Amino acid sequence: MMELRIQLIPTGEIILSPGKNGENFCHNCKVVGTDGVRAMMESALTARDRVGVQDFILLENYTSEAAFIENLRKRFKENLIYTYIGSVLVSVNPYRDLEIYTKNHMERYRGVNFYEVSPHIYAVADNSYRSMRTERKDQCILISGESGAGKTEASKKILQYYAVTCPASDQVQTIKDRLLQSNPVLEAFGNAKTLRNDNSSRFGKYMDIQFDFKYPSMSLSSRTSSLSSPVSPWPLSRRQGAPVGGHIINYLLEKSRVVHQNHGERNFHIFYQLIEGGEEDLLRRLGLERNPQQYQYLVKGNCPKVSSINDRSDWKVVRKALTVIGFNEDEVEELLNIIASVLHLGNVQYGGEEGVACITCDTQIKYLARLLGVNGTVLTEALTHKKIIAKGEELISPLNLEQASSARDALSKAVYGRTFTWLVNKINTSLAYTDDSYKHYSVIGLLDIYGFEVFQHNSFEQFCINYCNEKLQQLFIELTLKSEQEEYEAEGITWEPVQYFNNKIICDLVEEKFKGIISILDEECLRPGDASDITFLEKLEDTVGGHPHFVTHKLADGKTRKVMGRDEFRLLHYAGEVNYNVNGFLDKNNDLLFRNLKEVMCMSENKILTQCFDREELSDKKRPDTAATQFKASLAKLMEILMSKEPSYIRCIKPNDSKQSGRFDDVLIRHQVKYLGLMENLRVRRAGFAYRRRYEVFLQRYKSLCPETWPNWEAKLSDGVATLVKHLGYKPEDYKLGRSKIFIRFPKTLFATEEALENRKHSLATMLQAGWKGYSQRSKYQKLRTSAIAIQAWWRGILARRRAKRRRQAADTIRRFIKGFIYRHKERCPENEYFLDYVRYSFLMTLRRNLPKNVLDKSWPTPPAALTEASEHLRKLCMQNMVWIYCKRISPEWKHQMEQKMIASEIFKEKKDNYPQSVPKLFLSTRLDGENINPKVLQALGNEKLKYGVPVTKYDRKGYKPRQRQLLLTANSAIIVEDAKLKQRIDYDTLKGISVSSLSDGLFVLHVPSDDNKQKGDVVLQSDHVIETLTKIAICANKVNNININQGSITFTVGQGKEGCIDFTPGSELLVAKAKNGHLSVTAPRLNSR
Ligand SMILES: Nc1ncnc2c1ncn2[C@@H]1O[C@H](COP(=O)(O)OP(=O)(O)OP(=O)(O)O)[C@@H](O)[C@H]1O
Ligand SMILES: [Mg+2]
Repeated sequence: MMELRIQLIPTGEIILSPGKNGENFCHNCKVVGTDGVRAMMESALTARDRVGVQDFILLENYTSEAAFIENLRKRFKENLIYTYIGSVLVSVNPYRDLEIYTKNHMERYRGVNFYEVSPHIYAVADNSYRSMRTERKDQCILISGESGAGKTEASKKILQYYAVTCPASDQVQTIKDRLLQSNPVLEAFGNAKTLRNDNSSRFGKYMDIQFDFKYPSMSLSSRTSSLSSPVSPWPLSRRQGAPVGGHIINYLLEKSRVVHQNHGERNFHIFYQLIEGGEEDLLRRLGLERNPQQYQYLVKGNCPKVSSINDRSDWKVVRKALTVIGFNEDEVEELLNIIASVLHLGNVQYGGEEGVACITCDTQIKYLARLLGVNGTVLTEALTHKKIIAKGEELISPLNLEQASSARDALSKAVYGRTFTWLVNKINTSLAYTDDSYKHYSVIGLLDIYGFEVFQHNSFEQFCINYCNEKLQQLFIELTLKSEQEEYEAEGITWEPVQYFNNKIICDLVEEKFKGIISILDEECLRPGDASDITFLEKLEDTVGGHPHFVTHKLADGKTRKVMGRDEFRLLHYAGEVNYNVNGFLDKNNDLLFRNLKEVMCMSENKILTQCFDREELSDKKRPDTAATQFKASLAKLMEILMSKEPSYIRCIKPNDSKQSGRFDDVLIRHQVKYLGLMENLRVRRAGFAYRRRYEVFLQRYKSLCPETWPNWEAKLSDGVATLVKHLGYKPEDYKLGRSKIFIRFPKTLFATEEALENRKHSLATMLQAGWKGYSQRSKYQKLRTSAIAIQAWWRGILARRRAKRRRQAADTIRRFIKGFIYRHKERCPENEYFLDYVRYSFLMTLRRNLPKNVLDKSWPTPPAALTEASEHLRKLCMQNMVWIYCKRISPEWKHQMEQKMIASEIFKEKKDNYPQSVPKLFLSTRLDGENINPKVLQALGNEKLKYGVPVTKYDRKGYKPRQRQLLLTANSAIIVEDAKLKQRIDYDTLKGISVSSLSDGLFVLHVPSDDNKQKGDVVLQSDHVIETLTKIAICANKVNNININQGSITFTVGQGKEGCIDFTPGSELLVAKAKNGHLSVTAPRLNSR
């Protein structure tokens, strides 16, 4: 899980600790790039000590410049380049790309209160935009700072912010594109590489961005909603706040750069871009070579290439931008003709003798004539002569070499300068707000103007620039004080006068009519006679010599004199002292172009030049205003414009002179802090109260610190704040309650409150966590519970339905059953078919469970009437099956046994009493084995195989004396053996029959033929295994049918026709004895089996 820590430090700055992987998150902001959030949200920095305060008014020691710079330094080291002084944004050039200008950042600042987020240029842009919308007041954003401090970048960022965040339609998109694309064009023509900045603006620029406001009656809420949503519900024609036009005013282009550059500097970018990037064809037409070294105007600084600039790709950008802005091909061609002609002009070389200049080579003139669309001869003439009109007469006099060169340079400067102005006007036409249906629009002005400049040698340009900065400072202080005062008034708090340095005195010194420096300079320029820069200086000494802010070498004390030249004057500006060298002041102020050069240009066929050089200018007798006067007038106008608007300020600071990122040069910065008047600004802002906030914001932030205001204060806000600060123990002198805001005098009071909040946050966090955990667990539980109930309900429903169904089915079954039972004896019909089927089914199922286990098991369930026949079949089948199985399992021995038993059964079953007892006893194969039979007998038998032997008792025929004998059965005869003697052999063929009684005795008689002499008559024997013995004999002799079972008595022959008789009677035990009647009487025990 990612850990997120959000910390709020005074004035609502949010600090985010990074996650474990270095990512950053923000609760109400979109997630943005790692670096981006870091810089924007000041993440990873939890201590105020490290990041400093984000608003200088919270500096405890606000009068200390060191503390101020230290705070700036701390922030700079953490890439926090923006810091507020109240509503003024101080920006330090990071000299590297910070990822804090993404679309996400723009979204983050859009529509958000100034103090809710960390300082950013987007906050200023958005604040101005919102003020414009809500208060319906035009706004302006003043960006100042020294060269390279980041003014132009800042203005571009603001423009981009509006281009991205403001609503747009196709038409508006065109304007947005043109607004954005005006930058590369103006930069190409008006910016140059200087020692201080590779892309230094060499002109001042004020740009109005016009926003449409057609329906002023629209409510605030709907306006806000259209702002916050990128796709507004309003059709654009009715929507408010889209950028619909723009207007640019340019100030004092540094024209001298066209003809001269200091070492290490360059001319305006466009020259290099054209030479590097222009197509071959184009260069040929313009008569240019692809080598800047060929042009005198480009070699002065000896710096044709700059590593940070890619002229070739910039050329492409500019070419495209020109098209976007609305230049057609002809206009571009003519514009480039002019640029090329300036280069050719620079290459015009003079020669000649005795001070009369002439042009040594006319190649350049040929190009110039074509490019400028003028007559070459006339141009040559104008470049070597001057025409003066004195008392209505034209006087033409030749120029000497020096004059001719300066006339040529003057022409170059004039052509370039005027073309630049034309370019600005052209852009203005393309940006013009064209919708005439309702001429109401609001404006945000962006002023990107040169900052205060101090060089080793300061000239007329620095004088103008620094004068401009004096004016802006004056406006700034006045407006800041004014707004402070207004706020106090609005809040009903007594205004406490603030001590501040009023630089009006310096402004007056420069611009005052008749007495000011500009007036004196003009006077010197205009007066007849030998006016020179030195006479100008003397005049200054005479006129303003006593001014406390003016010093010259002559007027200075000894110490100052050492650092001043004799041709210099020093102004004690609000920002510091600057020495100006008067050399060139008059010329630059005059900015003169000889009349004949003007005439030539007026005759030009180049459409741009005809607009730049108006013929009326020639007939106008009045001398044109001097450069300084023009500048003064344009500044006055600018002040008017700015005064009519609500200002916001961006003060840009340059951290070092070497354009390095991460280097913070204390001395350089102290200097800028001083001349940007930041300390003064802070002092004014802190004069009364360091901190102020609207009641709702203050209460919202700190309400948790007081039980009465926590969690919500329902009554009046001011009462809530009063209760809160009372609870916090604020002393009456520490704060004041205004109408809608609380004013806190010292930052320490706020910090103490902030710390209390910091501590309170822990318990709040615990509370919130507990609440949240409880809530989330409760909701989880509730969810589970509802789910469980739902499942239960469903399941119970299912079960109940199943049960009901089963009950219904059961009832149906029972009903059918009963009906069936009632109709059971009827023919099969719908009423009884179920029952009958059931009975059958039930019988079959019972049968299945109770089938007989074996062949002897005779059990069989009673079938219903309808199945009697089937049952019988089944029973038979079952029995057959069991028998089949039984038979399959029978061994040959057992089969033999069973066959014998079968024969026994056939013979004796139900005929002889001891038969049943014999059934379970197995027949043995023999009851006499080799050991029991005398070997002699065996020997006598020879090959005859003995099939069965059993011990028997033989009863004599006469006396019925019992004698123990053995009965042996062979394949052909039964042999009676007495020990070792074969006593009698009865061949089976001769065996007439066998008699036996029906009682349980073991006696039997073997009947032999009486006429056989070998035989001694029938043999009466007794065997203990009579059934077995007789069965064996019957089988061996094949006499199964010859066994007679007799009741009562058996008669037998006793040789020679005599007969014997055996009487059988049942009795209690076996008795065999000779009866008195001479019969053998056998009493056989009665057995229960029969
Ligand atoms: N916010 C910024 N982020 C990154 N780089 C910046 C930023 N601002 C300025 N720079 C860098 O500083 C350089 C100088 O900035 P810029 O041209 O805006 O200065 P300037 O104040 O307009 O100077 P001049 O008065 O000479 O026109 C830029 O080219 C750019 O490299
Ligand atoms: Mg600039």
